[in-house]
Amino acid sequence: METRRLQAGNPADVICAGEILRAGGLVGIPTETVYGLAADALNGSAVAGIFRAKGRPMDNPLIVHISDLEQWRPLVQEIPENAKKLAEAFWPGPLTIILPKGDCIPDEVSAGLPTVAVRFPAHPAARAVIDAAGTPLAAPSGNLSGRPSPTTAPAMLADMDGRIDAVLDGGPCRVGVESTVISLATQPPRLLRPGGITLEQLREVLGEVEMDEAVLNPLKAGEHPASPGMKYKHYSPKANVIILDGTYDAYCRYVNSHQDGKTAALCYDGDEAHLEVPAVCYGGNEDYSQQAKEIFEALRKLDELGAETVYARCPEPEGVGLAVYNRLIRAAGFEVLHVE
Ligand code: TXA
Ligand code: MG
Repeated sequence: METRRLQAGNPADVICAGEILRAGGLVGIPTETVYGLAADALNGSAVAGIFRAKGRPMDNPLIVHISDLEQWRPLVQEIPENAKKLAEAFWPGPLTIILPKGDCIPDEVSAGLPTVAVRFPAHPAARAVIDAAGTPLAAPSGNLSGRPSPTTAPAMLADMDGRIDAVLDGGPCRVGVESTVISLATQPPRLLRPGGITLEQLREVLGEVEMDEAVLNPLKAGEHPASPGMKYKHYSPKANVIILDGTYDAYCRYVNSHQDGKTAALCYDGDEAHLEVPAVCYGGNEDYSQQAKEIFEALRKLDELGAETVYARCPEPEGVGLAVYNRLIRAAGFEVLHVE
């Protein structure tokens, strides 16, 4: 199939994206977090197409995107007080809220779970497409399953060209990592995936919020994760990524002792000054928001360099840095080496 290139700045293209979606097609859309692969959330066979295009396991549920609070009510059993507080504080924005699902949710969306994840994105183009489609949109990140999430239209096309009906180009994504996912289907509320809205911000609104074990740790054999997505290999570039935990000096010493033409560095801005292997930077040392914005594009660039082994500097797991750490340890298959 030919994948049409549409421009978010062109109103006729947004209407066209809406028509494709209403007819059961698949469209790549920009959001403030990452590009998503959208389909009509209330049309089970359209949603099944998302799983085929991505090569996504059918037991991994999708997030439903809305452009108006009114659209939320029928998607869930009820909207409890703590959900209203979160929506008021963080929507529209990079937060996904899980609640017991309403009757209209197709099994393809919830992947057999009794719950549904809903998000109200802030990106004007995402909201315009939902409006144009006239229906909530199910949309996972727009990468092939297992690959880094796309934060630009060209990155999305690199994975999806020829597999979907269209991509709507809205420029690079502002946040750069996927939304924070919180479940209110359990007591106390539980953070399933860190993102642009931090754990600290959630606790300010809700009081107690637990962090799921799988945010920082690999699943144990046979364990059932609260969020099915957490059991799959994720965010992987082709290279073998290893995180080096230690000082800048120790990092440089270790990396520079591996000059074999196959090694590259994934480091902070300015670190490359003392590195003797090809380096890709992912933001400033303490600039967690910039790191989040750049991490996926950096992983894709490392593939373009053809690196076989990548040594990454270890992000600080605090604030938005927790989201960066969560993505990078998955890209590294949880391989962290302490260097001195
Ligand atoms: O920022 C985002 O959230 C992006 C953009 C496109 O909105 N979307 C996104 O979707 O990251 P996806 O499918 O790549 O990640 C959704 C995660 C998966 O780990 C999935 O298992 C989990 O959310 N999830 C979805 N519905 C769930 C549910 N009912 N219960 C538990 N986890 C759920
Ligand atoms: Mg994803």
